[in-house]
Amino acid sequence: MTINRLSNTIGAEVVGVDADVLVKDDDLAAEVLRAIGMHGVVVFRDFDITPEMQVELCSKWGDIDRTPGHHPVSGIYRVTLDVTKNVAADYLHGTFHWHIDGCNGQGEECPQMATMLTAVAVAAEGGDTEFASTYTAFEDLSEEERMLVTGLRVVHSLEASQRKAHPDASTEDVARWRARPSSEHPLVWTHRDGRRSLVLGASADHVVGMDVEEGRNLLADLLDRATTPDRVYRHQWSVGDTVIWDNRGVLHRAGHYESTSSREMLRTTILGDEPIQ
Ligand code: SIN
Repeated sequence: MTINRLSNTIGAEVVGVDADVLVKDDDLAAEVLRAIGMHGVVVFRDFDITPEMQVELCSKWGDIDRTPGHHPVSGIYRVTLDVTKNVAADYLHGTFHWHIDGCNGQGEECPQMATMLTAVAVAAEGGDTEFASTYTAFEDLSEEERMLVTGLRVVHSLEASQRKAHPDASTEDVARWRARPSSEHPLVWTHRDGRRSLVLGASADHVVGMDVEEGRNLLADLLDRATTPDRVYRHQWSVGDTVIWDNRGVLHRAGHYESTSSREMLRTTILGDEPIQ
C-alpha cells in the first residue's frame, strides 16, 4: 500500500490495496487512519467497496452512526436528491455549501470524527466534492488576526445552513429548523494534539457579542480565504471511488448537481469523541 499526496495542503491517494484486504488487515487500516489525520482527505479510486465492507472498515476506526439512512445496510446513509430513494433528500441541498458535519443541532455533542463516501452513481454534470483544511485556514492568518479570532464564539444552527440552500423557505420550514437546538462553539478549535483550526461553514450564524453583520462579514471573509482554489482538493467522482475525510479539520461541499440527477453516494459516519474547545 502506498500513500501519495495530492496537494501541499490537503489530500492523499491510497494505491495498491484492495478493499477486501484492507477490511481484514488491522495494521493497514491503522495506517490509513493515520493518513486521514495527516492529510485530511484520503482517496481510493476504483475501490469498489461493498456497503457491508464499508461499515466494517469504518467500525475499525470508531463507533459509527447507525441512524436509519434510507438504505438496507445499517450504518449506510444514502446521499441522493432523488426523493424516491431518500425522503429527506431536500436537506441535502445544504451540502452544496461549505460545511463541517455535526456543528449544528447537536447540542453539546461532539462533531463527527470522519466520513466515508462511496460513489454508486455519478452526476452527468457537476457533483464533484471539494475539501479544504481548517488547520491551514488558521495557520494562514497573521499574528494579529489570530489574536482577533481567538476567544470569539459562534452560534451554529440548522436554520443558518438551510437558509443558504432554501432562501425562499416557507414559515413552516423555518419553524421546523428553529425547533432544532443551536450550538455555540469557539471560532478557534484547539485540538487534543495542540493543533488549532477554524470552525467555519454554512452552519455558522453569528459571532456572539459582535454586531450581527460585522460578525457575518468576518465569518464570510475567513471562509472565502480558507477555500480559495489553491487550498482546495476537488474530487471528480467515478463509480467505485471512495473518499474519507477527517471532519475535525476539513470543510467540504458538493458541487451543484440537478435534483433529477441519478448521483448517489453511500455515506458512513464515524462518530467523534472530541468536543470543539
Ligand atoms: C456531504 O456533505 O456529506 C455529501 C457531500 C457530497 O455529496 O459530495
